[in-house]
Amino acid sequence: MTNAIATLTALNVAAVPFAIRAEKSSDIAARERLLDACFGEGRHARTCQRLRDGRAPAEGLAFSAVRQGRLVGTVRLWHVDAGGRAALVLGPLAVASSCRELGLGGALMRHAIAEAAARGHGAIVLLGDEPYYRRFGFSSAKMDALALPGPFERDRLLGLELRDGALDGAAGLIVATGAAAPVAKPARRALPRAA
Ligand SMILES: CC(C)(COP(=O)(O)OP(=O)(O)OC[C@H]1O[C@@H](n2cnc3c(N)ncnc32)[C@H](O)[C@@H]1OP(=O)(O)O)[C@@H](O)C(=O)NCCC(=O)NCCS
Repeated sequence: MTNAIATLTALNVAAVPFAIRAEKSSDIAARERLLDACFGEGRHARTCQRLRDGRAPAEGLAFSAVRQGRLVGTVRLWHVDAGGRAALVLGPLAVASSCRELGLGGALMRHAIAEAAARGHGAIVLLGDEPYYRRFGFSSAKMDALALPGPFERDRLLGLELRDGALDGAAGLIVATGAAAPVAKPARRALPRAA
């Protein structure tokens, strides 16, 4: 009986559709909570964060997955110079633990890659698990001569050419090149009411 209930619950979870849309400024708080839950408080110290500090994501390349009005997934892409080649760095990619294994991560990845290609970008790099990312075409090819601004595991540095040859000859440090993030406006304090 318990197993039957578990199966029904799983089916219900899988049956609820989700949507992928451009990230909105109103997503930010929920997105930060999701990233804290997925990567922990230490996420700001990760090497790839050095490519995002103080930068805005690439134009039109930040996406949210939403299910029943709740933000359950996120992915963003950022401008970088990858050893002399213009590229995007992808990350973080995260899906709420309650919504995993439903294809959401894959849908976010395919959407982000397609949008980046449609916008004329030549290549995407990322730091992640090759067994997951190879299904989207990422590999360690042409990554040997590239480095990140901090410690990283070489076999996790992966790339995907959206345009043939976009990463040919890439050698050196991957550095951020995106626009500065807009400065957050301080919250406005309510004026005291006149007596
Ligand atoms: C990785 C993550 C985004 C995948 O999201 P998801 O919605 O569950 O992914 P999908 O449903 O599209 O794909 C599930 C498949 O990916 C596989 N998978 C998930 N994480 C994997 C990993 N780290 N390595 C290899 N395979 C992985 C699953 O086993 C499953 O395989 P199957 O299709 O053969 O059954 C999600 O697990 C997550 O947010 N994890 C925490 C944050 C994180 O690690 N982000 C990636 C940074 S490298």
